[in-house]
Amino acid sequence: MTRETVRIAMNGVTGRMGHRQHLVRSILALREQGGLDLGDGTRLWPEPVLVGRREHALRELAERHGLTHWSTDLDAVLADPAVDIYFDAQVTSAREEAIRKALAAGKHVYTEKPSATSFAAALDLARRARDAGVKHGVVQDKLFLPGLRKLKRLVDCGFFGQILSVRGEFGYWVFEGDWQEAQRPSWNYRAEDGGGIVVDMFPHWEYVLHELFGRVRSVQALAVTHVPQRWDERGKPYDATADDAAYGVFELDGGAVAQINSSWTVRVHRDELVEFQVDGTEGSAVAGLRGCRFQHRAATPKPVWNPDLPATHSFRDQWQEVPDNEEFDNGFKAQWELFLRHVYADAPYHWDLFAGARGVQLAELGLRSSAEGRRIDVPEITL
Ligand SMILES: NC(=O)c1ccc[n+]([C@@H]2O[C@H](COP(=O)([O-])OP(=O)(O)OC[C@H]3O[C@@H](n4cnc5c(N)ncnc54)[C@H](O)[C@@H]3O)[C@@H](O)[C@H]2O)c1
Repeated sequence: MTRETVRIAMNGVTGRMGHRQHLVRSILALREQGGLDLGDGTRLWPEPVLVGRREHALRELAERHGLTHWSTDLDAVLADPAVDIYFDAQVTSAREEAIRKALAAGKHVYTEKPSATSFAAALDLARRARDAGVKHGVVQDKLFLPGLRKLKRLVDCGFFGQILSVRGEFGYWVFEGDWQEAQRPSWNYRAEDGGGIVVDMFPHWEYVLHELFGRVRSVQALAVTHVPQRWDERGKPYDATADDAAYGVFELDGGAVAQINSSWTVRVHRDELVEFQVDGTEGSAVAGLRGCRFQHRAATPKPVWNPDLPATHSFRDQWQEVPDNEEFDNGFKAQWELFLRHVYADAPYHWDLFAGARGVQLAELGLRSSAEGRRIDVPEITL
């Protein structure tokens, strides 16, 4: 077995996602398992080059994880021919410029979503990547969640018959930051800094709906700012200028209707932070992050509406659990592995910058729908 070192410039690794999910749970976890076996006698050894703005934070991070390469000079890192891949987990507003540079330097690009702050820019990045002939990918981690993998299994075996509707409920209470620290960064609540729940979550809903049920054909959304004032990381009050909740209806190819609530201003009375209920002619299912329950039409109870009497059914107990039947790795790591196989073993991969642009498009049209108070068609992207 030959070991091949691959250098990956990782920008934004001091942040929440960059550090926890991408550096620790993905790249360092791959190193802990001895690298990535490509199946052709080669083992890839990912060597991260930490990139960021704050020297002390990078040095501290590198030391903590026993890493030796870090830099505050993105241009110099991109000019290094030993660096193969550029990865971006910066704040969304900083992403476009950095990816543009990485593509100009001929690097393969892997990035967090949303790939840019506007659809025009996201599409432009995708076209530049295609023209540069490099490999490119966008994080679509929800597809790799155990709950959604089990749901996909049900779709693939035809369990649902005709799928009629999808109901998604996503959210939790994000503290305002005054008497308890907020658990999300403050830029998420400022539109001028690339924040907002539509921009954050609609890219996820686009690929989840598209891959499991059908392309989104139209969107109707109401985006609102329920909590107008919050407190930032330094305890200073600021105006929340971005939407913190969005109520969306999506028509899908194939005729199903999806309705998804996304909110950072809701308290959880669910089993998981996100849940999707799918109803079909032959059966229904409810999937969360990890679990997925289903009910076949033959096992469907026949409740009769009578508010004068207490409920006679224990509805939740009438569902069956989809078994694991396999081991589920961290979703971010699973997608990293597929991307690395795509780059170094030419394995197929379709979660690219064009797919990422579709997500940005849906967010943009969702916000327009909300501003104009109407349903908007989502045109197919022309490459
Ligand atoms: N896939 C997912 O489920 C998921 C979840 C949350 C966030 N994200 C995405 O990941 C990206 C990072 O989000 P996060 O929650 O980790 O944010 P964060 O604020 O915790 O981290 C942002 C990172 O960007 C860096 N940065 C670069 N330029 C900056 C600037 N001008 N101002 C402030 N920070 C700057 C910061 O130093 C930090 O390393 C976003 O694009 C977000 O949409 C994805």
